[in-house]
Amino acid sequence: MELSNKLKQLPPQFFASLVQKVGAAVAQGRDVINLGQGNPDQPTPPHIVKALQEAVENPANHKYSPFRGIAELKQAAADFYKREYNVDIDPLTEVAVLFGTKIGLVELPMAVLNPGDLMLLPDPGYPDYLSGVVMADVHYETLPLMAENSFLPDYTMLSDESKERAKLMYLNYPNNPTGATANLDFFNETVAFAKENDIAVSHDFAYGAIGFDGVKPVSFLQAKGAKDVGIEMYTLSKTYNMAGWRVGFAVGNSQLIEALNLIQDHMFVSIFPAIQHAAIAALTDSQECVNELANRYENRRNVLINACNRIGWQVESPKGSFFAWLPVPKGYTSQMFADKILAEADVAVAPGNGFGKFGEGYIRVGLLVDEHRLEEAVERIGKLNIFTKA
Ligand SMILES: Cc1ncc(COP(=O)(O)O)c(C=O)c1O
Repeated sequence: MELSNKLKQLPPQFFASLVQKVGAAVAQGRDVINLGQGNPDQPTPPHIVKALQEAVENPANHKYSPFRGIAELKQAAADFYKREYNVDIDPLTEVAVLFGTKIGLVELPMAVLNPGDLMLLPDPGYPDYLSGVVMADVHYETLPLMAENSFLPDYTMLSDESKERAKLMYLNYPNNPTGATANLDFFNETVAFAKENDIAVSHDFAYGAIGFDGVKPVSFLQAKGAKDVGIEMYTLSKTYNMAGWRVGFAVGNSQLIEALNLIQDHMFVSIFPAIQHAAIAALTDSQECVNELANRYENRRNVLINACNRIGWQVESPKGSFFAWLPVPKGYTSQMFADKILAEADVAVAPGNGFGKFGEGYIRVGLLVDEHRLEEAVERIGKLNIFTKA
């Protein structure tokens, strides 16, 4: 049977080719240091695993969940936002429980846009945003994220026509892939821009827990009036190393939240209740594990950046997320450089062009192996004598 026209239009999975190349190298017995992917390497903290084990034992959790998730999880999400960001959230109308935020990001355009509407997406950006564009049959225009503007979009670059047509905008800080962070001024500017042009905002806060140098990442909802224009998507995947568990939530503007809940009423019965109970434990119990995790990534970042400096590779330190965004040397494209270091140094990285046109000229390195392996990866690259030591 043929695929539907919609499925035929889905963007190719750029990273499938990376996985294949790494797999082929490993199959040859090569010791590849894989810095190409974004899968947290640490286990879920034991108290969360224990909460799941206990919840699984309870037959009440073997039944269907309420369609929109259990009330205690929405309350926990609201309490989490109050405690962490001093943001007031109504658990009844301002929380949507999600099977991880990927689904929320893909379904939101289907929930609030009509075919032919215009969305604004960051470039470089998380590739799955484009899946939502195709599913909803909408158009998109990119917001270039450039080093000279600290990888923040410059709204003044948009044409009047784009501002007029755009109905929904995605942002993501701390940012995948650039490791950039945003401050409250930028989010205040975003709220003003969104109000002026009647554009809904969805801020993807996947790396909200991972900020460096003593600076806690700011929530979009901390900006004054943010709830008038938008929502924030929060995943437990990164904060609590729960990527495989598939749990997250969206909070903020009640109309956007209702739209998400409504589309989900027709696509899912909510998450396995035992997982929802474990998520409550994650959000409400001690957050020491989160501090430890952020410190771990910061130490890895320091090791990586110092090692790059030692081999003469001029790079900027990421301020958050678990990615470093490193410029490729002169004379290489992102793909050429990624292919070279995989072939000659057994180091796998994600070429920046996979994240959009403005990702060309960079590679993305995941801080998802231990410090020794990160150091070794850079030393191996150093031995190729591409960079000149200072
Ligand atoms: C920027 C960004 N947004 C969203 C997600 C999706 O996370 P999840 O579906 O696990 O909640 C990821 C995962 O890698 C991500 O990097």
